[in-house]
Formats: sequence, structure tokens, C-alpha cells
Amino acid sequence: MADKMNTVILAAGKGTRLKINTPKPLCPALGKKLVDFVVEGVSNFSNKKNVKIILGFVVGHEREKVERHITANFAHLNPTYANQEQQLGTGHALKTYFDKYPSAWESEFTLVVCADTPLIVEDVYCKLYDEIITSGADAICATFTTADPTGYGRIEYEKSAFRIVEEKDTNEEQKKINEVNSALYLFKTSHIKNHINNLDDNNNSGEFYLTDLFKPDMNVRTMQFDDEKQFLGVNNLIQLEEVESILRIRKLNQLMLGGVRVLNSSSVYVEQEVQVEAECVLYPHVSLHGTTRIKAGSIIENGAVIKNSLIDEGVTIKAYSYLEGADISKNCAIGPMARLREGTKIADDCKIGNFVETKKVNLSKGVKVSHLSYLGDAEVGSNTNIGCGFITCNYDGANKHLTQIGKDSFIGSDCQVIAPIKIGDEAYIGSGSTINQDVPDGSFAIARQRQVTKPDMAKRFIKKK
Ligand code: UD1
Ligand code: MG
Repeated sequence: MADKMNTVILAAGKGTRLKINTPKPLCPALGKKLVDFVVEGVSNFSNKKNVKIILGFVVGHEREKVERHITANFAHLNPTYANQEQQLGTGHALKTYFDKYPSAWESEFTLVVCADTPLIVEDVYCKLYDEIITSGADAICATFTTADPTGYGRIEYEKSAFRIVEEKDTNEEQKKINEVNSALYLFKTSHIKNHINNLDDNNNSGEFYLTDLFKPDMNVRTMQFDDEKQFLGVNNLIQLEEVESILRIRKLNQLMLGGVRVLNSSSVYVEQEVQVEAECVLYPHVSLHGTTRIKAGSIIENGAVIKNSLIDEGVTIKAYSYLEGADISKNCAIGPMARLREGTKIADDCKIGNFVETKKVNLSKGVKVSHLSYLGDAEVGSNTNIGCGFITCNYDGANKHLTQIGKDSFIGSDCQVIAPIKIGDEAYIGSGSTINQDVPDGSFAIARQRQVTKPDMAKRFIKKK
């Protein structure tokens, strides 16, 4: 058993075929970055096999951005970086790592993974590890068989020995070979040490190939894996989409196996970090993002978009609502078509109806805002009812101001309150009022013109067509 293992993640390439500015390791996938999935796979392996990994990256293109992201997210794994100034090939990339960290020669094994293959799960690493220990091979290359091997290095066997022939170097016969190199390798570090300086760039790409560490006269092996999809590499945006949909299905399957009911799952998008507890139901076209957490028994209806929000037990988010940074307590009903923005905090048993927008509000238990209202920078006490068409006028063009409304109050329909303002407990505001002075506890306030009714006068205004 090895007590520590180098893990070198190759992430220096430009990703030219992507045709976008984002460096390939930082391409988005299910709310995270491609490289995150690679690191998580490796780190799960490390935990499962109890092997300490020394996490190294070969970086180059946009390396500051790549390093910043990795350090921010995986500081606990103490990542190290070797800068490959010129990307002279995958073999050169690995050499760059050892040149920068000579102490890495001391680890018995070195795992090499590409940053653009995010679907590999820890079981693959575990199998390679078991194989290198039991077989005594100096290096193992993970391979798979595919109907369309275009673009991959082909595994050409010669009796029991083999070599890897890169696409650009294949002849017509070799092009037909269906077993290909996944670009995942586990080496005895001594094998790298013995051969890495002998690599050359005498090939059609003019690159130093890592694949040349596998030659027929070496004590190396292939290990074939079934599920070819897990080795899918991201070289262009079509492959990025393929990878992301596989990640998405994996996530949904995990939720469903955990007791979440998902209707028409092919239309549902749930990001990797999102948590949904058992007995929840996700209707079609639901989209859950970021750090969203949904607790047991909540129902998310069609087309709801929820970002970085907390939804407690027994909540219903009705169709086409949009929540961002909201915190909703037990048994609330939200929407349909509600928009809850950053800083919305809603206590138990509240009801937010259609076309209600909230931002930076704190609603106590049992508050109802059922229709067509805007609440920004507001606090509302328990059981207060806010009628249709209410507006907190919270912005004076330069600053935002607070609205405070007490408990058990009633705000009639079509009212505006001009903040800063304070309305007390058990207060009652008549419909159609524009309130610009505080209303004490228990008071009734009305601020609208008295009605004038003139009998028989309507005919003066009604036009006959
Ligand atoms: C590589 C393999 C090929 C295999 C395929 C599987 C080689 C020579 N070829 O080809 O046999 O079938 O993966 O997906 O290894 N990188 C660097 N520095 C460099 C060049 C590349 O860090 O100088 C990194 C890239 O950022 C990428 C990884 O190495 O993460 C693989 O490079 P890429 O150009 O994608 O290689 P492939 O053409 O896919
Ligand atoms: Mg690739």
C-alpha cells in the first residue's frame, strides 16, 4: 500500500477547439467548473482507498485564473502548480511538473489525469490502483472501445505488448482500431523517471507525447473499461453539452434514489451542489441552482427557477416563480409567478401570491401578500394582511429606506407607503391610500380624496359610438 501518491492534473492547454475565452478547466458544468469534478473524483478515491494524494496541476493558459479558482475551492488539498510556459505536449507537461517539484519523485505512484475528462468516477481510479499493485506493472493506461475512435490515440497491440498511436500519426489500418487511450494513467513514479527524458517530438504534431511512455518493450499494461461515456473529453462545446447532460442525469438519479419525485426529468435542471430532501416533488422545467437547499416534502411546480435559496419543509413554490437568495420557512405558499429577490426572509405559514416582488424583506409568521405587490426594504409583523397592489416606495433616487409594519395589521388594496415609515400593530390602512406619515398601533389611516357622486351626470361623459 502506498501512503501517498502524486496526482498530476494536466490543465495547461488552451482549449483552442472550444472557441471561447474561458480556459478549459474553468468551463462551466452543472454550476461548477470542469476541473472541480476531476478533483472531486480523485479526492473521493483518496478517501476510499485511504491513500493521501499530493495534488499537483500543470497550468499554462490563463494560469492565474485557473490557480485562483482551484486554490479558492480546494485549499484543504494543498494544491501545487507547475507552470508550463509553452504547451509542447502532454509528455512535456508531466516533465514540467517533476522539474518544478523534484520531491514528487519520492512518491511510489503517480496518477495522471486530464482536466478535461470530468466524468471519471472514483471506482475507475480504485481499479487502476488495485491493478498496479497486483500486476506489478510499471504503468497502466485506462482504455475503452468506441465505435467512433476519431481524435483519440489508438491502442495498437503487438502480441501482448502495445503502443499508443496518436490520431495524427495513424495510417489507414491504425485509424480503424476501436480501442483508444482515455488519457488516464497510473504510473510507478520510477517508470516516469526512467523514460521521461527520452521522449522526443518526432511525430506529426511536433509534440512530446505522454503516450510515448507506453512502448512494447516496457512493462506496461492497458486496463479496459466498459462505459465509454465516462471518459468523454471536452474539446469543443458539443462535448461540453454532452458532458453536462450526463452530469445532470447523474444528479437527478441520485435525487430520485434519495426519495425525490421528479416529473419529466429530461426537462429538469439541478446543479451539483443543490440539496433536495426526500418527499419533495420537482415538476417539469424546474431549475435549481447554486447552494439551494429544499427540505422534506416541498413541492416545486413547473418552470420555477430557484437560486441560492433555502426552502424549508412543506413549502409549495407555485409555477413560474423566480427566487434568488430567498429564505422560506415551513408551509409557505409562493407564487405562481412570484419574484423573490436577494435578502427575502419569510417565516412559517406565509402566503406570497402572483406578481409579487420582494427584496430585502423580513416577513413574520402568517403574513399574506396575495397579489400584485412590491415590497422592498420592509419588515412585516405576524399575521398582517397586505392587499392587492401594495407598494413600498423605498427608493428616493439616491437611497433606500425602511418600511416597518406591525403585527395583525391590515393594509387595504392599492396602497403606497413612502419610506422611511412605520405602521404599528393592529393598524388598518384604507384602500387607495398613499401613506407618508407614521401610523401608531391600533390606528386607522386613510389618505385619499373623498368621493363625489353626481346623480344623472354620467351621460355627459359616455360617448355613443
Ligand atoms: C490526449 C491523448 C490521446 C487520448 C486523448 C483522450 C496525448 C498525446 N494524447 O489527446 O491519446 O486518446 O487525450 O482524451 O496525450 N495539456 C497540457 N499541456 C500540453 C498539452 C496538453 O497541459 O502541452 C493538457 C490539456 O490542457 C488537456 C490534456 O493535457 O487537459 C490533454 O490534452 P488534449 O490536447 O486535450 O489532448 P488530446 O488531443 O485530447
Ligand atoms: Mg482532450
